Amino acid sequence: MAVENPTIYLNGEFMALDRAKVSVLDRGFLFGDGIYEVIPVYGGRLFRLDEHLRRLEDSLAGIRMQPPLNRCEWEKIFDRLIVGEQDQAVYLQITRGAALKRDHAIPADVVPTVFAMCTPITPVPAGGVRVVTLDDIRWQYCHIKAITLLPNVLLRQQALDRGGVEAILIRHGDVTEGAASNVFAVIDGVLATPPKSRHILPGITRDLILELAQEYRIPTAERNITLAELQRASEIWLTSSTREILPVVELDGTRVGDGVPGPLWQNLYAIYQEYKNTLRVRR
Ligand code: PDD
Repeated sequence: MAVENPTIYLNGEFMALDRAKVSVLDRGFLFGDGIYEVIPVYGGRLFRLDEHLRRLEDSLAGIRMQPPLNRCEWEKIFDRLIVGEQDQAVYLQITRGAALKRDHAIPADVVPTVFAMCTPITPVPAGGVRVVTLDDIRWQYCHIKAITLLPNVLLRQQALDRGGVEAILIRHGDVTEGAASNVFAVIDGVLATPPKSRHILPGITRDLILELAQEYRIPTAERNITLAELQRASEIWLTSSTREILPVVELDGTRVGDGVPGPLWQNLYAIYQEYKNTLRVRR
């Protein structure tokens, strides 16, 4: 897709990216006071839009904001940003807006800043990825998709510095999620993933994987996974809207299973691609 100066949406207007300007007093800039969503688009269609907008509303409620637009208005904006039929993702960010005075407390009568753009989705690398485990140093409201991502940034960079593509985070001995993904592990033939809680983002891809697995009678469990269990898992996957289902072949320098994407991943990846294709056909 690589459009050089794409059209973006900012506060009621569509404009070229290089014309978009936000106040330095914006609370997103000053405090990281805002939330976001990433919605995949396959074959020109928004993927699981209802689920993404529901999570958006939950995130807004979690930081004491009202939705600035309704479902229909969001959809109209996103449709204008989608370029062609290739796989892409809508990025939507809402901050509390710019107040005249820098004050931590939430100001009354501030107008939210609303920004949306479309970005390409890069294909999943063949052959699987390496990951490292790190201490989950984040806050206790990880179910809110907040733009305040400094811990995630530092964790991801630490993983890259150690030759991994992602960090799997461990909180009090249990797996929570990746720095920007959810985690699945095949343990004793069961596809397990940590339960929803304040310590993980309720991933839309995560829910879909569980749904598809159950439809195809693959045994699943939403339960706590200890680091020791993760280390003996026969398969580990990372899931997210932009990386779909990514097989992990090395954990902290040790092979996962046979060191290649496992049979259950092959199976579910094919099911997932087929599911995506049914959306394209329905157009
Ligand atoms: N991140 N957990 C975290 C911490 C994430 O940042 C993400 C996604 C997920 C997966 O959620 P979903 O399946 O709904 O994409 C889990 C997005 C893609 C990002 O920050 O760019």
